[in-house]
Amino acid sequence: MPTHVAVIMDGNGRWAQQRGLPRHEGHRAGATAVRETVYGALEIGLRHLTLYALSTENWKRDADEIHAILDLLHSEVSADPFQDLDVRLRWHGGADRLPTDLVDLLRLRERTTRTRTALTLTMCINYGGRDEITRTAAALARSTARGQLDPDLISEKDFAQHLPHPDMPDVDLLWRTGNEQRTSNFLPWHATYAELYFTPNLWPDTDRRDLWQAVTEYSRRQRRHGATPHQPERASRADGDPRDG
Ligand code: FPP
Repeated sequence: MPTHVAVIMDGNGRWAQQRGLPRHEGHRAGATAVRETVYGALEIGLRHLTLYALSTENWKRDADEIHAILDLLHSEVSADPFQDLDVRLRWHGGADRLPTDLVDLLRLRERTTRTRTALTLTMCINYGGRDEITRTAAALARSTARGQLDPDLISEKDFAQHLPHPDMPDVDLLWRTGNEQRTSNFLPWHATYAELYFTPNLWPDTDRRDLWQAVTEYSRRQRRHGATPHQPERASRADGDPRDG
């Protein structure tokens, strides 16, 4: 069972296009798939689910589409569909360029849900991996300038402690829908050793069974983290696999 599943929810625009609908209808249907996925995550006891809702690159899109996504995010967070469930909401990303009322609402939900423990749902809104790394480097520079860190002794652990969310665990499974095989500036620090899982379905067609399928696929993978693969028992080597020699 993975601890942390991160999802690139791709294919909303194509889903709408296939139905002759405006793109924002695809995002609306995508929000329904988000609710469904969260229910599915709670049912299997997943601890961390992180969703890429708006990237720093998405600002290049048509202004109407961006406004539609921001309005949708505001109405979803405002509707608070998980209020009776043990879901902690977190927001990951920069406040710059986001409407103040959305930032205030996200901070409010972070505060009011902070004692919930079953599932941490992190919404990445105005998030970019390089932006996160750059902010972390700036935070490290501030610590060294204050004399709290020796630049020659900075470790990976120090770096991780200066990330915007130092308590976010590594991603075990990075899942992207929509038939594209890229990680698109998503969680580069946390997903270094993530298992990658790409599926052809468009995000609005996703339901909880797709999450369970993703978790099942993860459970079949052998994770090594740079170590040598698990050695088979002596008896099975005697069966004569020449690679064991
Ligand atoms: C990518 O599909 C999707 C997005 C940029 C927006 C994702 C946002 C939501 C699903 C809204 C709801 C989210 C939450 C967390 C409530 P695309 O538009 O790039 O699709 P395409 O590749 O088919 O054009």
